[in-house]
Amino acid sequence: MRAAIAAAEVDPDLDVAVVSKVYPMRSHTVAAEGGMAGVVKDNDSFENHIYDTISGSDWLADQDAVEEFVKEAPGELIQLEHWGCPWSREPDGRISVRPFGGMQIERTWYAADKTGFHVLHSLFQTSLKYNNITRYDEWFAAELLVGDGRCQGVVAIEQRTGEVHGIVGGATIMCTGGGGQVFKFTTNASIKTGDGMALAYRAGVALKDMEFVQYHPTGLLGSGILITEATRGEGGVLLNKDGQRYLQDHDLGEPLDVTDPEHPQTRTMELGPRDRLSQAFIREEEAGNVLVGPQGSYVHLDIRHLGEEVIDTRLPFVRELARNYAGVDPVHEMIPVRPVVHYMMGGIDTGIDAATSLPGLYAAGECACVSINGANRLGSNSLTELLVFGLRAGHNAAGFALKHEISDKGALEAQVVTVKKRIASFMDKGHGGDERIAVLKNEMAETMEEGVGIFRQEGSMRRTCDRLGELRARFENVKLDDTVLRHNTELRAALELDFLLDVAQSVAFSAIARQESRGSHQRTDFPARNDERYLKHSLAYRTDGEPQIEYGDVTITRWPPADRVYGN
Ligand code: FUM
Repeated sequence: MRAAIAAAEVDPDLDVAVVSKVYPMRSHTVAAEGGMAGVVKDNDSFENHIYDTISGSDWLADQDAVEEFVKEAPGELIQLEHWGCPWSREPDGRISVRPFGGMQIERTWYAADKTGFHVLHSLFQTSLKYNNITRYDEWFAAELLVGDGRCQGVVAIEQRTGEVHGIVGGATIMCTGGGGQVFKFTTNASIKTGDGMALAYRAGVALKDMEFVQYHPTGLLGSGILITEATRGEGGVLLNKDGQRYLQDHDLGEPLDVTDPEHPQTRTMELGPRDRLSQAFIREEEAGNVLVGPQGSYVHLDIRHLGEEVIDTRLPFVRELARNYAGVDPVHEMIPVRPVVHYMMGGIDTGIDAATSLPGLYAAGECACVSINGANRLGSNSLTELLVFGLRAGHNAAGFALKHEISDKGALEAQVVTVKKRIASFMDKGHGGDERIAVLKNEMAETMEEGVGIFRQEGSMRRTCDRLGELRARFENVKLDDTVLRHNTELRAALELDFLLDVAQSVAFSAIARQESRGSHQRTDFPARNDERYLKHSLAYRTDGEPQIEYGDVTITRWPPADRVYGN
């Protein structure tokens, strides 16, 4: 929606279509909780935010992109305020910011712990005032339209009727989010199936740095629902089965006394970067120091010392989630948590202008890889990334569209026909064999967890790569019971699984090719970072067989690679 607003503002005569497979207020941004990073405090600086982001990325972020991102962030956050976002404030009226993981200083703007909801609302209501934005709610993008060597729109299924349409456009922007659904235990909603990544990949655009998958350290046991990092930013602590703040044993600092009101609570060890905290959990698990219950192993997140008033004011949603989905009231009880797949650092290879290698195709947000996140994203940078790069994508795509007429119409029409035939083949009762969507999806998620989870090594990754190849072949025999086109959710699930398999393969093959450990990609067989060979972006290209992995340069400007140091 940020991109749509930006494009609409370029020229009121430009028609902007927002094609979304769900009603826009249901898109996954709504689930974001903790906040959005942007320098605002007098004692903070752009240099600090840039350095935190680059060091957090384990030096894989492109430094020119990070610099521009950091400098443009505050303006976008203020813009959001002007569009109605109710930022939490200090008693004197200034914007309130909270500490977040891997940040030296508090710079995360927030709206209690429902930031995503408010951001989405602000953008949605603002988009309504542009007469040149037309929404196609609950339309499913099935393929990119490519003609004359450039992207000219999408083929989309109107889910209400099942009809297939070509939506042509001088330029197209992917803002489809990540693909966390390739894993089993994830904060990602079921709609996050990597559709945009797969569409670009199929059109010949590389998926960059796909091996870097972020585990958030505090997913609610059982459901995987996000328990925001803000919980730790406000002073929450992580305890193992013996009630010890175990992170002190994992090079993340000393256990500051967070119950002491005089103590600055800005840099407790619980606010280390996400990759380090998630890895520490596995080490504790291996040492037998975690709790184990019917829903698996976990540790405790304790916020009882914050008291009811603080919890209800700053973390009301956390209380609601813990009560409703884990049956614990965090005012009185500890919250059971464990690491959970949360975010993909990788995505559609884009430049700093949000453009891809396919003329006319742009991407922004989690589906894109600019890259400002490198091997590990810092919490609260991603919502800001939506705004900064959504704006750029909107502007640049509009500029491109104004210069390019729709052409090669025969080729575009032929693609619509191809998609219609593919759907008809799914609808054909005699089609395929007896493979079930849910079975294949479960097997995919299991093998991803086994091979490319928090710690990785050659043998299990090889098995995952092989298994994904088998699943890809078995997918051709998938059987649908529902052969009615109208609102056919089974058809949608099949198309989503097709996309997920592409995303899963790009993750697994990129991971096995990178023989080093960096950020979220930790290999027990190659435990060290190897800048000489792998200070590179991986680029996965789709082929008829296994993905082809190539490498591209990382832009280093003023911050040469160094060790990541955390602690106090
Ligand atoms: O913990 C959180 O609130 C997540 C924020 C993020 O992923 O940026």
